[in-house]
Amino acid sequence: MPSSESPIDLAEVLAHARRRTLTLLEPLDDKLLVRQVSPLQSPLVWDLAHIGYFEELWLLRRAAGLSSLSPAYDDLYDSFAHDRSERVELPLLDPAAARAYVGEVREAVLELLPQLDDFLVGMVTQHELQHVETMTQTLVLAGLPESAPEVEASGDVLVGAGPFTLGSTDRWAYDNERPQHVVDLPAFRIDRALVTNAEYAEFSGRPAPNGRAHEPVQHVSFHEAEGFARWAGKRLPTEAEWEKAAKTAVDELEHAQGAVWQWTATAFDGYPGFRAYPYAEYSEMFFGGDYRVLRGGSWVTDPLVARPTFRNWDLPQRRQLFSGIRCASDV
Ligand SMILES: [Fe+2]
Repeated sequence: MPSSESPIDLAEVLAHARRRTLTLLEPLDDKLLVRQVSPLQSPLVWDLAHIGYFEELWLLRRAAGLSSLSPAYDDLYDSFAHDRSERVELPLLDPAAARAYVGEVREAVLELLPQLDDFLVGMVTQHELQHVETMTQTLVLAGLPESAPEVEASGDVLVGAGPFTLGSTDRWAYDNERPQHVVDLPAFRIDRALVTNAEYAEFSGRPAPNGRAHEPVQHVSFHEAEGFARWAGKRLPTEAEWEKAAKTAVDELEHAQGAVWQWTATAFDGYPGFRAYPYAEYSEMFFGGDYRVLRGGSWVTDPLVARPTFRNWDLPQRRQLFSGIRCASDV
């Protein structure tokens, strides 16, 4: 993938992702690591070994042509081989073996690093950081306390009519953020603030978590987000509106990124001229209208992942993710 930007220390970003993984898992005992906390989530020890598997597959096997460390891993740790709810039944590596495996893969990657493709190293780094968020979802379902920065803003911002450029040419942007293209939108208004727990409680009757009335609501489904917006006399932004606001009025939006993901009205699909890269399973198999796009990034999302063009997606009924609401309205 061509890049005109300044060099990134690839060893440092890989180490950063690994520190986040190990910091998250270190205090946990093995019983929690192997437990099926929810049918929506994998056992944490699966995520850990899968991080190593993905790194081995893309950097050691496909990029460097090395042979597999164990043929069994193609079945155990491929995301599409088994449903998340079934993974606890598989003969998974135990926590100590999983740690040893990810360490062994990383050691080999660091030796080969000068010859590895920048985009693939970036993909592997982002993949690990995205699993840090998935594992944090699992831990929250298991009772880990969570929080998000408080909401202070109010009112909305007028985003004027006109064309803007949607998508990214960033060196590490995923295939679904490409190709960049011009989109012409009518004027719209978008809220400066995220919806708080207190506001959401008024709509839903679901009480705000203790002491967190002024934090953004999280763990709402798309359907709930849409219901709230309608109740408030507004609507969800389309993802193009969200990105235009994030690119042209970012100083006026509070917590555009770094608090909670924000549901958009848009179904996940390819941009005009989409080409799967480097594999169809990353984005393309989720296209077609079943999944809704979320934008922004949560209090867990790493800045290396949270680009203003980054597209997250999930099923409209899901609420295990750190998902909240920013409303928009017509002018
Ligand atoms: Fe994965």
